[in-house]
Amino acid sequence: MQRLRTFLDHHCDDQALVAVIDGLMVACKDIAYRLHMGSLAGVLGSAEQENVQGECQKKLDVISNDLIKYCLKGMPEVKGMASEEEADPVACNPDGEFLVLFDPLDGSSNIDVNVTVGTIFSVLKASANDDATHESTYLQSGKQQVAAGYVLYGPSTLLVLTTGNGTHTFTLDPRVGEFFLQREHVKVPATTKEFAINMSNQRFWLPQMQNYVADLLAGEEGPLGKRYNMRWIASMVAEIHRILTRGGIFMYPYDSREPQKPGKLRLMYEGNPMSMLIEQAGGKASTAFEDIVAVEPTSIHQRVSVVMGSADEVETVIRYHA
Ligand code: AHG
Ligand code: MN
Ligand code: MN
Ligand code: MN
Repeated sequence: MQRLRTFLDHHCDDQALVAVIDGLMVACKDIAYRLHMGSLAGVLGSAEQENVQGECQKKLDVISNDLIKYCLKGMPEVKGMASEEEADPVACNPDGEFLVLFDPLDGSSNIDVNVTVGTIFSVLKASANDDATHESTYLQSGKQQVAAGYVLYGPSTLLVLTTGNGTHTFTLDPRVGEFFLQREHVKVPATTKEFAINMSNQRFWLPQMQNYVADLLAGEEGPLGKRYNMRWIASMVAEIHRILTRGGIFMYPYDSREPQKPGKLRLMYEGNPMSMLIEQAGGKASTAFEDIVAVEPTSIHQRVSVVMGSADEVETVIRYHA
C-alpha cells in the first residue's frame, strides 16, 4: 500500500508540483464526500443559472468549482486558475509558479441519476512576469502541460494522474481520506472493438466521420472486418477511464451545428488533460486532423474535436479524414 504523497515524492522531482497535486486532492475528497451524501447533503439539482459555456449549471458544478477555487487560492505554488465554470481566469499568489485549469465536475448531467462524474485538471508553468488575470497567460498548448489528471467519483473514488512519466491510478480509502496506488504505468491496448460516440448527432458530423462510424456498424461484413460494441455514458471521465482500463475509442467530433465551435468539449479543461493521460498510457489523441496537444489555443474556453483512445483505432479515424 503506497500513499499518493509517497509515490509522488519518489516519482516527481518537482516538490512544488507535488504540493499542488496533493493540495488539489483536498478539494476532490470534499467533492467525493458530498457526492456520496447526495440528496442528504442537499447537493442535487439545478443551480438555475447558466455558465459561460451557455450550459445550465447544476448545484454541484457550482459547489465543486467553489471548493477547488478556495483550495487553489490558499496554495503558495499556484499563480492562477481557469475553470469551465468561470468566465475569466482567477489570480492566486503572484509568486506562484503554476497555473491550474480545470473542469470541476465533468458529466454533470449524470449527477441526478447517480451515475459516475469526475473532476479533470491540467497544470501549466507560469513565468514570473505573467499576469494571472489575463487570458493570454493560459494560452499554452497541451504539449506544455507539466501534469494532468482526473478524479473519478464512481463506486470507488479514483485519481488518474500523469506528471509526464506514465499514467498511474490511485484509489481513495474514504476511512482514512488517503489515495493509495492502484496501478502504475497503465497501458491502453493498441487495438479495440469498442467505440463511444453520441450517435444522436450523426447527421451533423463531417462525411468522413459518418463513413467511419457506418463502417464500424457494418461489423464483420464491413471494410474494418470486426464486430464492434458501443458504450455512451455521457461522462468523459467515465468513458476515458474505461478506455484506460480495457481499450476503446472515444469521439466527440466536429459538428456542423456551430461551425465556429469545433465540437462540444473544451480544449483546456477536457481535451488537453485527457490527451496527456491517454498518450502517457501509449494511446493516441487527435482532432482527426492533428494531435490535440498541438492545437495552439486562442481562447481559454475554446472547443475542440476529440478522437482518443487505442492507438490503431485512432490512426484509422485519421486515415478516413486524410
Ligand atoms: P460537462 O458536464 O463538464 O459540461 O461535460 C460533459 C461532456 C462530457 O463529459 C461528455 O462526454 C459529453 O459532455 C456528453 O455530451 P452529450 O450530452 O452531448 O452526450
Ligand atoms: Mn458543463
Ligand atoms: Mn466536462
Ligand atoms: Mn463540467
